[in-house]
Amino acid sequence: MTEKTSLWGGRFAGGPADALARLSVSVQFDWRLAPYDIAGSRAHARVLAAAGLLDPDELGQMLAALDDLEAACASGQFRPTIDDEDVHTALERGLLERLGALGGKLRAGRSRNDQVATDLRLYMRDHARGVAVALVELADALTEQAALNVNTPAPGLTHVQHAQPVSFGHWLLAHVQPLLRDLDRMRDWDTRTAISPLGSGALAGSSLPLDPAAVAKELGFNAPAANSMDAVADRDFVAEFLFITSLIGVHLSRLGEEVVLWTSTEFGWVELDDAFATGSSIMPQKKNADIAELARGKSGRLIGGLVTVLTMLKGLPLTYDRDMQEDKEPVFDAIETLELLLPALAGMVSTMTVRVDRLTAAAPVGYSLATEVADWLVRKGVPFRDAHEITGKLVALCSVRECELEDLTDDDLEKVSEHLDPSVRSVLSVESALAGRTTPGSTGPGPVADQLAQVQHHLDTWRQWAVEKVVPR
Ligand code: ARG
Repeated sequence: MTEKTSLWGGRFAGGPADALARLSVSVQFDWRLAPYDIAGSRAHARVLAAAGLLDPDELGQMLAALDDLEAACASGQFRPTIDDEDVHTALERGLLERLGALGGKLRAGRSRNDQVATDLRLYMRDHARGVAVALVELADALTEQAALNVNTPAPGLTHVQHAQPVSFGHWLLAHVQPLLRDLDRMRDWDTRTAISPLGSGALAGSSLPLDPAAVAKELGFNAPAANSMDAVADRDFVAEFLFITSLIGVHLSRLGEEVVLWTSTEFGWVELDDAFATGSSIMPQKKNADIAELARGKSGRLIGGLVTVLTMLKGLPLTYDRDMQEDKEPVFDAIETLELLLPALAGMVSTMTVRVDRLTAAAPVGYSLATEVADWLVRKGVPFRDAHEITGKLVALCSVRECELEDLTDDDLEKVSEHLDPSVRSVLSVESALAGRTTPGSTGPGPVADQLAQVQHHLDTWRQWAVEKVVPR
């Protein structure tokens, strides 16, 4: 290659200033779009041939060159250079190197504006499935640990204070439910994103007899865009995707924070496998939950990406503006962050040891059975308001005496309220508290087993969706 390939320049007297070229270049990150750009080129070549703008022989050569270029990109034999402004420029250079002048025919009826919007949709739909696979794997790891701990009691917390006993399996499933919603959001987003911008050209469509519906179909989209101006200006699919990845980040950060607590000396509920924990360079005894902390920390960059794109889009006039080149790095970063983080979290969760003994011991601590007493009084006909008051007095007495509710004497009970009698002790066990939770969605063994079966069923459905191929070769 002797002469530099540029997709514009006819009307310019000289080349761009270095400072402009350095600012403008995006190929160092948008090269990730190359396979999708080539898929779009194949579809576009077929449509040009159907319109009589390429003869069958030219189409054959064009498709062969695109195949060859695709293989060369995949093997690394063809690489972008810093003189290639963006992925589209680099690939046109690759095509010209293979086809000479014929390579210049492919750009007819197409603009980088509809191309980049198409490429990004294809890339994101494809990679959303990779993120979904990794989300399902983390959900699987949590679900497997939950299955082992349906009958492990734990002190459920509100305000990080002991509240009521729960099943630790239920608790772990409470981290799976948000991930199921994330998967649902991803599929919902995917349906809205399955719209093809190709055929919109720079903004106004094309005077050439193109066939946007055929292109859409070939690229696995559900339909071509309804409005060419919207098609090149719209980045809702980017903002929406980054909201989903931000929310995933928030969910992972909450799980991460809990693992940090659970593995602390103060809690001691969970021990991490050595392979998924880190040490300290100075303190030989340390075993740190760095994966959990990185999960907590990386939510920041995921949210940052969403804010970047929303701020970039706000007030942008229709249609394409170069500002929109800033849409891609947050997307790549979000996907690559989750592709790194999710497998590490899944490994950490699936190999962690739940200290059933410590959780069982902690479950009744802090008067977590007080609500059972109040409910017992309610069943005897005492208004809850009074039951709450009476139970509060029992707790106050225990806290003065530094004893547990079951340590109070029959006499103590009678003194606190005429409604109390020794049979109240029957509700003062974690086991009975859990067994009594039988309503759907609650933390008793029955409803938790039902929930577990439901979660496993949903995950099977998501597993199938996540491996569905959307971008045809
Ligand atoms: N590299 C650009 C982007 O990522 C696409 C090219 C459109 N550029 C243009 N000057 N019309 O948004």
